[in-house]
Amino acid sequence: MEVGFLGLGIMGKAMSMNLLRNGFKVTVWNRTLAKCNELVAHGASVGETPAAVVKKCKITIAMLSDPAAALSVVFDKDGVLEQICSGKGYIDMSTVDAETSSKISEAIISNGGHFLEAPVSGSKQPAETGQLVILAAGEKALYDEAIPAFNVLGKKSFFLGQVGNGAKMKLVVNMIMGSMMNAFSEGLVLAEKCGLDSHSLLDVLDLGGMANPMFRGKGPAMLKTDFSPAFPLKHQQKDMRLALSLGDENAVSMPVAAAANEAFKKARSMGLGDLDFSAVYETVKITKQ
Ligand SMILES: NC(=O)c1ccc[n+]([C@@H]2O[C@H](COP(=O)([O-])OP(=O)(O)OC[C@H]3O[C@@H](n4cnc5c(N)ncnc54)[C@H](OP(=O)(O)O)[C@@H]3O)[C@@H](O)[C@H]2O)c1
Repeated sequence: MEVGFLGLGIMGKAMSMNLLRNGFKVTVWNRTLAKCNELVAHGASVGETPAAVVKKCKITIAMLSDPAAALSVVFDKDGVLEQICSGKGYIDMSTVDAETSSKISEAIISNGGHFLEAPVSGSKQPAETGQLVILAAGEKALYDEAIPAFNVLGKKSFFLGQVGNGAKMKLVVNMIMGSMMNAFSEGLVLAEKCGLDSHSLLDVLDLGGMANPMFRGKGPAMLKTDFSPAFPLKHQQKDMRLALSLGDENAVSMPVAAAANEAFKKARSMGLGDLDFSAVYETVKITKQ
């Protein structure tokens, strides 16, 4: 199966590499074209523009930072829309809001193409090992066609119905995750400030009903102030912002998420946006001093 891949950031690089390892022919494009080199060394071809990739491939996947990037790659000059046509599919796996996804879907479909949104739950390591959870919505026929690729990229795929449902599901999941990370950070700082051993707190948490892979995986690194980015904080803040907007639309009061968003914004203002989202811990350390 030949697929195109647009966007070789932390996730896109791992995912396209995984497709290559599993026998897919992959044509890649990235805004910063030099990032394609590593993929080429592993057998990928390069498209000079998003349009060139779509022209070559029956199915093109995108994994881009945010709504602005997702829209730009489709609508701008040399974008996806210039070559999408009957028989071609476009699968946007970026985390965006439902409105952005619907805008892209309408444009693709009105040019004769097929569209699926398919944001993912899971970070850098699950992307490398094919353990993502895929939250797809849109055209079921394209979903069925993409299953061989999804089976390589993820451990489980969900088809959630109409366009927007995948985006919304992803935002709800990440809103919960962002709130959890803030509560976790406050707990770590409070434990330390009141004289407890933070590693003991991690052990206690890991043996109880709140045990989870995120606390287990991130906790020891946070205590060492190692915030090497797996999920950049600026993207977590974008997801909180989009989830809060979804809350506004649906009149759902979300004070916990709103407070978490403020902490992520504060972290961005401290220059921590490119670090892992667990770096929000640094904002709690400061406010508790
Ligand atoms: N990392 C995670 O753990 C994780 C998990 C689940 C979902 N996600 C979501 O997956 C998406 C990608 O995340 P990531 O961690 O891979 O982010 P990343 O490392 O920051 O990569 C972002 C990608 O988007 C491209 N890009 C940014 N602005 C662009 C523009 N205006 N036009 C064209 N391309 C543009 C970047 O190109 P350049 O290289 O040229 O900058 C890069 O390829 C985001 O929506 C994120 O929320 C991430």
